[in-house]
Amino acid sequence: MSNSFMFKPLCFQTEIIETDSKELHNLLLGEKEIVFVIDKKVLNLNPSLLSGFADQRIIPVHATEEIKSFAHAQTLITQFHQLGVNRSTIVCGIGGGITTDIASFVASIYKRGTRLWLIPTTVIAMADAAIGGKTAVNFEGTKNEIGTFYPAEKVFYNPEFLQTLPYTEKHNGLFELLKISFIDDNVKLGRQIFTDGLSMKLILTSVHAKLKICINDLSDRGDRRKLNLGHTFGHLIESIYKYKIPHGFAVGLGLRIALRCSREYELINDETFTAIEKRLSQIPLTVFLDPETLSKIKEQGKEILLADKKNTDKLTLVLFKGLKPDIVVHSIDYSDRVLEIIIEELGKQC
Ligand code: GLY
Repeated sequence: MSNSFMFKPLCFQTEIIETDSKELHNLLLGEKEIVFVIDKKVLNLNPSLLSGFADQRIIPVHATEEIKSFAHAQTLITQFHQLGVNRSTIVCGIGGGITTDIASFVASIYKRGTRLWLIPTTVIAMADAAIGGKTAVNFEGTKNEIGTFYPAEKVFYNPEFLQTLPYTEKHNGLFELLKISFIDDNVKLGRQIFTDGLSMKLILTSVHAKLKICINDLSDRGDRRKLNLGHTFGHLIESIYKYKIPHGFAVGLGLRIALRCSREYELINDETFTAIEKRLSQIPLTVFLDPETLSKIKEQGKEILLADKKNTDKLTLVLFKGLKPDIVVHSIDYSDRVLEIIIEELGKQC
């Protein structure tokens, strides 16, 4: 006779705190054991944010996709070691998705996990990267190939960061909000989103929508996979274009490819296709891709597509299904048609 025990699944707690610069600064100053991993650009734009902290507690990083590597993780680990960081130290990542991804990754493995706070400063990081616990570094050309699930204790939302964001960075972030608007009806982009711009209210609605899903599926094996809508293709495009295409735009392209695949696999009819296409066209895809790279995709696309970490022997795609936009995780055999669709959509941006 077999015997088994069942334990409650891992659960996580993340406190979402809306704040302003002054309050945030005071909150941080109240912490004695804290070390910052901060995007240099953010530090230069907000010199007072970390005033009052010893220089050695501030680790500025040059936030390009190249630093999301084992080598850079090791550099941070060495710095943590020299600083005497321990499990009760708060590692506070401040910046966009690149900075929050690597800071969280190192926080999750250093001494089997330090405390972790995040202060996202871009829309992508606010709406996606900083919440839900995914940490990451890239590996051998594949985006986010190595990582852990390690949700931050606290994530701070300061609307003032939105004011200093370059226009293209806001535009870039809209694609993550567009994605989640298909998953949760509470996230309403509205027709005027592109002209009226972003509000913290909309971002926080999207944060709640994402957390509602992640809380029941932290490890991304069930419902959370819906959040990868547009991402399987998006990551492929980012890898091939060597991260020269911003993440949001890659997801925007990925959403269009997912839509076309949904029709190809007869998951949606023409009417639904048109309705979704209309919503996608709310956010213009102003990205110009170099045509030479397209030929590389023709050569390597299948290999890269099947090597994506979410795919096993089949392609696991998140597609639209049904009359009303709905999303299923769809497991299909690889088909050259998928590659053709990718190439056609990328060709439109050349
Ligand atoms: N970016 C998708 C997720 O966090 O699951």
